[in-house]
Amino acid sequence: MTTTDPQAPAALDDETISAYRRDGVVRIRNIIGRDEAARFRDAAIAATTKADDLFKESKIFNQYVNVWQQDDVLRELTLDPRLAAAATALAGVPLRIWHDQLLIKPPHNGAATEFHQDAPYWPHAGSRASLSAWIALVDVPVERGCMTFIPGSQNHQDLRSQDLSDRDDMFRAAPDLRWEQRLTIPLQAGDCTFHNAYLAHSATPNLTDDPRIAHVAIYIDAAATYTGAAHVVTDGLGLTVGEALDHELFPTV
Ligand code: SIN
Ligand code: NI
Repeated sequence: MTTTDPQAPAALDDETISAYRRDGVVRIRNIIGRDEAARFRDAAIAATTKADDLFKESKIFNQYVNVWQQDDVLRELTLDPRLAAAATALAGVPLRIWHDQLLIKPPHNGAATEFHQDAPYWPHAGSRASLSAWIALVDVPVERGCMTFIPGSQNHQDLRSQDLSDRDDMFRAAPDLRWEQRLTIPLQAGDCTFHNAYLAHSATPNLTDDPRIAHVAIYIDAAATYTGAAHVVTDGLGLTVGEALDHELFPTV
């Protein structure tokens, strides 16, 4: 008798990969099991008592970056081969880890994450396939800080960075996007979305009595180079401008 390893990477079908390449986003249900999500949720809650909230001035979310460097359980999730295999299949190029983050919207946090792209914040050149795995560690219905995407907006690759606390800023940067269809994707614990780093996305405020807990594993093209722009993850590492991010914080996957 043979048994199936529940943690073996599931191959993504061609339809899923084509949808991702067209829309810049795809939902993968049960990328991890519900029991695993509960274990990682508990580890995430514990980690927040020790880690530094980089966004404490804001109501939008609490942000804990590079928890895989601080917590062995969350390290398992960030480096999970199921996530890496799916990300690589979707991106279609070799990837490396950029960073992870816990993004937690407390109950009734009172603030949306407004539309923005991720890539303009980052100090990378030549990174067109970068993407995030946004993993729900609790159920995230529309009312609990659920993500909304503008499919196809990943083709806008030359925009300035946008202010994720300003509802209109994305649309001042790219006025045509105001009239595009939006895709809102509720997730159950253990589901994830992958979104391209140039895809415009937002999240609702948390209107519920329970926290919204997401773990985000972010991948960049392995060949991307460092621009030297200021960023909390790379400042002080001594990286060379114009060279790849070859450093133990950014392992290839
Ligand atoms: C959020 O989780 O509220 C936003 C996530 C993101 O901007 O990638
Ligand atoms: Ni974002």
